[in-house]
Amino acid sequence: MLPQRNIHALYSGRKPATRQHPMRFLAHTVQTMEPWPYPFWIAHRGAGTLAPENTLPAIALGQRHGFRMFECDVRLSADGVPFLLHDDTLERTTSGHGTAASTTWQELTRLDAGRWHSATYAGTGVPSLEVVLNHCLQQGILVNLELKPSPGQAHATGVAVARCVRQLWPQQGLLPAPLLSSFQPAALQAARATAPELPRGLLLDTLWPDWLESALDLGCTALVAHHALWNADLVAQTSSRHLHALSYTVNDPATAWRLTELGLDGLITDRIDRFDPAAKPSRPCP
Ligand code: G3P
Ligand code: MG
Repeated sequence: MLPQRNIHALYSGRKPATRQHPMRFLAHTVQTMEPWPYPFWIAHRGAGTLAPENTLPAIALGQRHGFRMFECDVRLSADGVPFLLHDDTLERTTSGHGTAASTTWQELTRLDAGRWHSATYAGTGVPSLEVVLNHCLQQGILVNLELKPSPGQAHATGVAVARCVRQLWPQQGLLPAPLLSSFQPAALQAARATAPELPRGLLLDTLWPDWLESALDLGCTALVAHHALWNADLVAQTSSRHLHALSYTVNDPATAWRLTELGLDGLITDRIDRFDPAAKPSRPCP
């Protein structure tokens, strides 16, 4: 396995950032955060804007735009197969009807997950997590798996996704492991119990009470917060507890610049056509 520093250079093209604990002057040993091994830019929903979200053609398109990491939403079929879908129901992004949780994997394989987007993508299938992970391994790209449980399935989703990643992703390989994230602590807790070695990030759309304690209790390495939540105070809170700072969904250059200036470690974006994945955002023209 390459040293972390080399892996980091492969994917971000920048030196590992270290943030020192604000109380370092009290410590005999200076504590630093582990280098963040993932790219700064992450394509949202598998780069699913110019192509149908959470599909292999979308990821391939994102790759052609230079992206090397992809956020994907994962939930379970009725028979427990983890696959990519954002919504609880099938109507918006597939040719199916009803809930994902009441549809078997065999039934899901017969759906069209591309025609809703455009005729170009008609015939695109719903991808299983297994297929996506194998694609990532073959292509040398990285993934952020958002655990998106259907109602009542937080625990089962965390277990199934962590188990699938552990079975398929080499633990001592070159590629950093998939980052598991979720708005639902119960899903992250189940993933942790199943595969504690996999990195976890708590997703926040609001700063609910005790979010920081929850992130730490879950052994998270990252906080992934809505861009409007980030400010200097939140950055200070996360960095003081050695949590890396990520934001979703950043599509506006001024917002990207603001978050970069705050020192965030990564941004999730829909706009694979607007941002250069090989560079940090630059100051937008007034
Ligand atoms: O993982 C960040 C982001 O994807 C959360 O929002 O609704 O697009 O899954 P959503
Ligand atoms: Mg998501």
